[in-house]
Amino acid sequence: MAIRPILTAPDPRLKTISKPVERVDDELRALMDDMLETMYDAPGIGLAAIQVGVPHRVIVMDLAGKDEPPAPQYFVNPEITWRSEELASYEEGCLSVPEMYEDVQRPARIKAKWLDYNGNPVEVEADGMLATCLQHEMDHLEGVLFIDHLSKLKRDIIMRKMVKAKKRYG
Ligand code: NI
Repeated sequence: MAIRPILTAPDPRLKTISKPVERVDDELRALMDDMLETMYDAPGIGLAAIQVGVPHRVIVMDLAGKDEPPAPQYFVNPEITWRSEELASYEEGCLSVPEMYEDVQRPARIKAKWLDYNGNPVEVEADGMLATCLQHEMDHLEGVLFIDHLSKLKRDIIMRKMVKAKKRYG
């Protein structure tokens, strides 16, 4: 396993639309292992492959609380098959938009399906943190960041801060 560098906005690669995975094989599992290690190291609770520069539809996540044992989850080719009309608002952050947090409104509940670490199909109805995180991470697969859900004014303020921080720290 290896920790990979995480791309940060406004890196244009984050706008890539990721491609479906053709096979869940050892090569893909090695990528998922690296992504998980990179996410834990950051630390974060979710990471999409494009955030480490790989344009494939792969997400890793761990929503376990601080005092709970690790509970890694792997999502290959995830699809949302249903969204509730009811919305929920959560404060979101992103490893590609470090140190910025804003409330984002999204469908409160979703049904989604994907392939797991071993390529087995999974289908769930999700709410709360899982619903929010999955939608946030799946946005990455379409080249969308959580700040794209904010007003242009708020987004511009955040992007200016990001560009300034990059100049300062390289
Ligand atoms: Ni993110």
